[in-house]
Amino acid sequence: MDSKNVKARNILIIHGPNLNLLGVREPEIYGGVTLQDINRNLSRLTENTGVKLDFFQSNAESALIDRVQQTMSDGTDFIIINPAAYTHTSIALRDALAAVKLPFIEVHLSNIYSRESFRQKSYFSDSAIGIISGLGAKGYELALEYAMTS
Ligand code: DQA
Repeated sequence: MDSKNVKARNILIIHGPNLNLLGVREPEIYGGVTLQDINRNLSRLTENTGVKLDFFQSNAESALIDRVQQTMSDGTDFIIINPAAYTHTSIALRDALAAVKLPFIEVHLSNIYSRESFRQKSYFSDSAIGIISGLGAKGYELALEYAMTS
């Protein structure tokens, strides 16, 4: 991609709880790729574009909230977030995203709407620019492409 066509330059990728176990954790649902594979692949897509990616994973709700709050002063333009199980429970993380007022895309590896009923409620979707759910690791790539070009 030509670096002058890039829109968001500082993009934060946030991975919620248990995503550090990707590759090992329920591979029949989440696939065989590791979080490291996903992050490495995303970094490759930004080569020579001038885009800076920052990656953050935590199993702790408070750490995720603190990282979102940090974007008020660290130059982040755009957030791609898989809140994992906090998708269905965390009003606090939702409020953090609302507070920082940055555009974000919600990504899920699995299709949360084809699984248990408790996964079909997201506290994030109505305030996200868009949601990608069910496309596996490809969903992160599509979200990144959107963030860089739209
Ligand atoms: C997930 C879906 C969530 O329901 C689940 O709790 C996760 C991962 C996904 O990427 O498909 O941990 O966000």
